[in-house]
Amino acid sequence: VVRAEAPAQAAHINKTIKKEEAKVVDVCVATAQEQKQVPYCRCWKSSTFPLCDATHAQHNKETGDNVGPLLVKKE
Ligand code: FES
Repeated sequence: VVRAEAPAQAAHINKTIKKEEAKVVDVCVATAQEQKQVPYCRCWKSSTFPLCDATHAQHNKETGDNVGPLLVKKE
């Protein structure tokens, strides 16, 4: 049996969030009091993950990338 080596850390998208877990899964329960719009992080750099804290703006400025949050809106 030949096993592939683990990918280099540099190739990981997730650099810091829940690295002790095999897979990052978050569950959010919507409530009637919740704000009209909730931004969820898609850049994996937020200090409030899974919620966006706008860190993506600095990442985009430094790299020329264009990532941003998923906005979940109430109807
Ligand atoms: Fe990650 Fe905003 S901080 S999308």
